[in-house]
Amino acid sequence: MIILGITAFQHDSAACVLVDGKLVAAAEEERFTRKKHDGGFPYGAISYCLDEIGASINDVAWVAFCINPWLNLHRKLFHLARYFPRTLAFCRDQADYSSGIPSMMVAKQYLRKLPGYDPKQARFKFQFVEHHIAHAYSCFTISPFDEAAILTADGIGEWTTTLLAQGRGNTISKFKEIYFPFSLGAFYTTLTTYLGFKRNSDEYKVMGLSSYGKTDEYYNEFKRVLRLVPDGEYEMDMSFFNYQFGKIPYYSDKFLLTFGEDRKPGQEVSDRHAEVARGGQRRLEDALLHMANYLHKITGSKNLCLNGGVALNCVANGRLIKETQFEDIYVQPAAYDAGAAVGAAFFVHNGILGNPRDFVMDNTFWGPEYSHEQIEAFLKLAKVPFREVKDPSAEAAKLLANGHVIGWFQGRMEFGPRALGKRSILADPRDPQMKDVVNEQVKHRESFRPFAPSILAEKVSEYFDFSYPSPFMLLVYNVLPEKRKVIPSVTHVDGTGRVHTVVKSMDPLYYNLIAEFERLTGVPVVLNTSFNVKEEPIVCTPKDALRCFYTTGLDDLVIDNFVLSKTPAQRRPR
Ligand SMILES: [Fe+2]
Repeated sequence: MIILGITAFQHDSAACVLVDGKLVAAAEEERFTRKKHDGGFPYGAISYCLDEIGASINDVAWVAFCINPWLNLHRKLFHLARYFPRTLAFCRDQADYSSGIPSMMVAKQYLRKLPGYDPKQARFKFQFVEHHIAHAYSCFTISPFDEAAILTADGIGEWTTTLLAQGRGNTISKFKEIYFPFSLGAFYTTLTTYLGFKRNSDEYKVMGLSSYGKTDEYYNEFKRVLRLVPDGEYEMDMSFFNYQFGKIPYYSDKFLLTFGEDRKPGQEVSDRHAEVARGGQRRLEDALLHMANYLHKITGSKNLCLNGGVALNCVANGRLIKETQFEDIYVQPAAYDAGAAVGAAFFVHNGILGNPRDFVMDNTFWGPEYSHEQIEAFLKLAKVPFREVKDPSAEAAKLLANGHVIGWFQGRMEFGPRALGKRSILADPRDPQMKDVVNEQVKHRESFRPFAPSILAEKVSEYFDFSYPSPFMLLVYNVLPEKRKVIPSVTHVDGTGRVHTVVKSMDPLYYNLIAEFERLTGVPVVLNTSFNVKEEPIVCTPKDALRCFYTTGLDDLVIDNFVLSKTPAQRRPR
């Protein structure tokens, strides 16, 4: 049986396909349209997923859509009427929240435009799935746990912004929902726009910037903005915000009076901006810890599953595993709305059809791949010089040890925002200049943003203060003080690192690369960042990779077992 899961008409549109209850393919639409966070209907992603199994839309039994636009409609209309005319902006807001609702309501019609659609043959059932239930299924039902506490948090679903629940077997029971306008996602997005970054896109920049803050000056102010109340709940003082009206800016004059003038996009980042980022980040962490501790108290569970866009905050996630009594944590790698497509599909499989759970999402490699022959034919067609090597891992390790910055393109593209060794840019973490080199010459992005370390899983305790596995690069630990000078380019300003633990069984080629780098240098760590430049999605095809290679300061491209190297004249100045 084929189940197609879809996210569309908000941001980060995506599709996935299950065959007999097992995930077979999943991808974000942005990778195909090359439009970052593309929120349109995911024709590219659906076509890819169906092609992967040699099927068409006519063969699909169920289509699961990750939001139910009819749910809580009365609450939305009441909210719009209550605050009219201030909520006019809400109606006009084309990027988020309400604007997608009319399109969502007729989402089924969009499927008719898929290639090969035949109204006589297509018999699929179309199912809207409550958004936070999709988030909950997307982390629990594909986790390794039989039972777990579940915490989902984002900007807004239908009206819910936060869900506290428990999963057992193939059922999920809700404990508590927090409704709009109280929203941790909207809180953090407001902070993101206040600091001059893009909403629903640049939230991780705030997290990176927060590490530069040193005082609790603004943190104490944020305690007034976001209040923790008993029973795992939080409240917000809405006089600091405008987002509840859909109004730009999302922050009010009171917010500006409290935290100072906002930063305009492109303006220099000051110490005060870093202090505000620190205050907001810490308060977000407080709220998540507060809810997780409550969940632990009422469920007694050892396991915690996290989902929703807020679950991509790896600094907070690191604290959740370190500072709560949960022993195990599972954060689905595409925790934002793209991953809710997977949850919607599993809701149909487990929740509606009642099938037992028999799938664990233990890797992110669900996207397109290209064969050796396809890549060779493309390189020849492109008329670029390349050489074939026997062992791309050893070749790449040698290049890294010699100070090269390389593009690494292998196998199936990652699903989710992190590059985990399939579409990565890699460099030597030992070189203290490497962070600036990659930021300025390759990624063309802000200098305050850190890079992540990929480390052999069995070596993590030699370099970090915590060794819990982090296969999806979603947990932040402290680099041990004596190792900070060993891997300076992946040690953030506050001594932390966004860890990616690599096990051989999951990705032998990438594991071997790091192991070979260790043999050459004594260090079992490489600098890993996504294979893209600023404002572009991660590369998907060999063509994308080639374009990125020749338009940036990358020295080499290792693609399948072919190596492209720039000449000394073409390379960035050393
Ligand atoms: Fe969401």
